[in-house]
Amino acid sequence: MDKTFKALIVSEKDDSIISSIEDWSVDRLSEGDTLVEVEYSAINYKDALATIKNGGVIRSYPMIPGIDFSGTIIETTHEGLFVGDRVVVTGQGTGVSHTGGFSEIARIPGEWIQVVPQDLDLKVAAFVGTAGITAAQAIHRLESVGLGENKEASILITGATGGVGSMAINLLKAKGFNNITALTRKKSTDYLDSLGVQHIISTEEMLENTRPLQKQSFDYVIDTIGGATLEAILPKISYGGGISLCGNASGIKFSTTVLPFILRGVTMFGIDSVQLSTEEKSVLWDTIKETITKEMIDATIANEISLEDIVPVTKQLLEGTHSGRTIVKIK
Ligand SMILES: NC(=O)c1ccc[n+]([C@@H]2O[C@H](COP(=O)([O-])OP(=O)(O)OC[C@H]3O[C@@H](n4cnc5c(N)ncnc54)[C@H](OP(=O)(O)O)[C@@H]3O)[C@@H](O)[C@H]2O)c1
Repeated sequence: MDKTFKALIVSEKDDSIISSIEDWSVDRLSEGDTLVEVEYSAINYKDALATIKNGGVIRSYPMIPGIDFSGTIIETTHEGLFVGDRVVVTGQGTGVSHTGGFSEIARIPGEWIQVVPQDLDLKVAAFVGTAGITAAQAIHRLESVGLGENKEASILITGATGGVGSMAINLLKAKGFNNITALTRKKSTDYLDSLGVQHIISTEEMLENTRPLQKQSFDYVIDTIGGATLEAILPKISYGGGISLCGNASGIKFSTTVLPFILRGVTMFGIDSVQLSTEEKSVLWDTIKETITKEMIDATIANEISLEDIVPVTKQLLEGTHSGRTIVKIK
């Protein structure tokens, strides 16, 4: 393919990071055996970090961010993949060390590619993206410590208006859980009300008590923010409960005592959806496909934007003022 196409490029100039839409060619993309015409991408926290200096995400410039994308294969030599296949890519090096999905064309190793199930459209695949896979993995881990039959189990989701948080709420609701608490810094509860959570708690309220063991308030937790809030949550997890730790939107450090673990048998799972194999992701995609509904998608999609509008939205993610998932219609 020798014609040029548009991509969002982040580059380093005079000790700062600049983002611009440029005409690129295939030979400038990272190596891979498969070319995909990208139709949709979505904006994740990691994409936002990719646009700033010291974001800790991109080590070599110029780079095309976009850790998720869906589209159609236009060239491939990868065994088992065919021209015309509708595909989705999430994680691995995509948009970080390997040119990603904020581009009309992506070149990608076939082993990172997931063929999209027949009954899922490409927009929904990008909507789910890394956020959905991460939320599904977090839930899957908690199922191993008892999250399941008891639909009254008390479940806390932090960073609740974010991509991972919203997808976790959606997936849990679809499984019938009806005692979900959303932790948010936002003053307005409109968005979380529309997702249908039962309770909303502010960060300030969560941070009020700092004793090493507190009232057992949450059976299961999906945490996307880490930091001091995580410190305040661990002492409130019920006996035998569990927490899936997915993110660090509020910080990478936390300190705790051993008490929740040795006196209440709490289990803490580290979640990394980036390096999951396509086989492991397939299992999660199947669960997601069965649970996702149009109402859920309508309630969670904040915006559908074009390549040119990505940077202002990444700023909203970094400021913590964004809610839900912004989808990027690439072509
Ligand atoms: N482990 C993995 O494989 C994996 C995969 C995907 C994402 N992640 C991580 O998960 C986290 C969430 O990702 P995302 O894509 O869902 O991001 P997002 O859409 O930006 O959501 C993050 C949410 O966290 C809250 N938040 C943001 N900044 C905060 C701050 N300074 N202090 C406290 N809360 C803050 C906000 O929710 P409220 O306003 O409602 O409080 C925000 O909506 C990120 O740390 C990301 O790197 C990890």
